[in-house]
Amino acid sequence: MKVITAYSHKGGTGKTTALMMLASAIEARGQSALLVDCDPHQSFKAYETHSRNTAPAIWSDKMDVIYLHYEATKVAVLEQTLLDADEGGRFDYCLLNLAGVDHPFNRHVLRYAELTLLPFAPAALDMMELPGALDVLRQLGDQGEVGQARVLLTKMRSKMTSAQTGYIDAVLAGFPVMKTQIRETAVLGDIVMRGLLGKAIAAWEPEASGLQKMEIARLREALEECQALLAEVDSIIELGEAA
Ligand SMILES: Nc1ncnc2c1ncn2[C@@H]1O[C@H](COP(=O)(O)OP(=O)(O)O)[C@@H](O)[C@H]1O
Ligand SMILES: [Mg+2]
Repeated sequence: MKVITAYSHKGGTGKTTALMMLASAIEARGQSALLVDCDPHQSFKAYETHSRNTAPAIWSDKMDVIYLHYEATKVAVLEQTLLDADEGGRFDYCLLNLAGVDHPFNRHVLRYAELTLLPFAPAALDMMELPGALDVLRQLGDQGEVGQARVLLTKMRSKMTSAQTGYIDAVLAGFPVMKTQIRETAVLGDIVMRGLLGKAIAAWEPEASGLQKMEIARLREALEECQALLAEVDSIIELGEAA
């Protein structure tokens, strides 16, 4: 079971969206995932509930969601949950959804992830917050406590100017970055409404006509973005295992 998380010290950076994108790609491949909500907002639960309540249902029975509130859960409980899930052999992946805070629980959780994504939209406020999160990962990395970590550029509107690139390079200070970049799109913005994208396409495509066909095309593009993200995530984890 591959364990993946997304980390930042503030909300709204795109953590849950990045993980839901991975869930869509995992589902489209016919694989399974355990989704763990450690964020009191229980976003995964909201995605699941919404997707199951749509007609036709666009959730997968291969996705389980559990809730472990970060302030009320002992790290040992999370560890046992992950060990049990791994031993049970039901899941190909485990996606850990964290609250956007710098909290000891989150620092512990990072130790269980083979890959931590740090979603980052190159906007001023996010730029101010990112260095703190990078420092935590550098520290834990120096102590050999964490797996791989990558900044994930997200909510990208257009090509960056050279001034922006230079500023971002200074903020990143050599921290590794995913090759896959996530565009800012309506589909990804309200992925909660579309559920697992492969399921949504399969459910709606047969009846789509006119403008709906364009919407299906957009869903397909978004799913391809999800699949590119998962492919890179897999290759990073595999290379890490080989090292
Ligand atoms: N690629 C994207 N394109 C457009 N909107 C996005 C994208 N990624 C995230 N968002 C939007 O940004 C907001 C925060 O995203 P979310 O994943 O919930 O962040 P976090 O989990 O870090 O708090 C949400 O409203 C989400 O819909
Ligand atoms: Mg979230």
